[in-house]
Amino acid sequence: MKITYLGHASLLIAFNGKRLLFDPFITGNPLAKDIDIATIEADYILITHGHQDHVLDVEAIANRTGAMLISNFEIISWFGEKGVKGHPMNHGGKFDFDFGTVKYVNAIHSSVLPDGTYGGNQGGFVIWDEDQCLYVAGDTALTLDMKLIPMTCPKLDIAILPIGDNFTMGYEDALIASDLVGCSRVLGYHFDTFPPIEIDKEKAKQLFSEDGKELIVPEIGESFEV
Ligand code: NI
Ligand code: MN
Repeated sequence: MKITYLGHASLLIAFNGKRLLFDPFITGNPLAKDIDIATIEADYILITHGHQDHVLDVEAIANRTGAMLISNFEIISWFGEKGVKGHPMNHGGKFDFDFGTVKYVNAIHSSVLPDGTYGGNQGGFVIWDEDQCLYVAGDTALTLDMKLIPMTCPKLDIAILPIGDNFTMGYEDALIASDLVGCSRVLGYHFDTFPPIEIDKEKAKQLFSEDGKELIVPEIGESFEV
């Protein structure tokens, strides 16, 4: 798989020949001013929860590309009323798509859509095929539910975890999360976008390396082969 970081919690992941876009929040992020949403191609848009900093550019990109949304029932219903098609899921459920299996897993956070509509319960995604598996945690606190992931899913090749603190877990808790999910390779996201989530990136990387783990702290626009 190839992971491209688009800033904040936005990722474009080429997986098994399909382009999976996660939580697009680009036009509202001054740090991502060099990313043009008109150039983003996507087959699917996966949405972890309803907050503005995760759904802002969903409608524009879905309308242009025809991408199919994947999220919880409430978020898919809300976008459905705007004419955007999607596949609804809920916690603990998995479904086989044409690129692989997606499981919608627990997250501890909150979720309301930008107009105040109830957004259902926030979640994360574990995605796999025969030879690769990744976890996109979404906005979440550290939670013991993460222990269920290695019990119910294939071994992770990479875990994408929030590290910005304040609204989600910080990098210290992300280090513990990497143990719970059984993956020593972590890509950090949801940091630096707003003043309360600015972090010391060198300190974060050092904490992981002292524990024999790898924390990738991506630059916006940077891509990684996994
Ligand atoms: Ni959020
Ligand atoms: Mn957020």
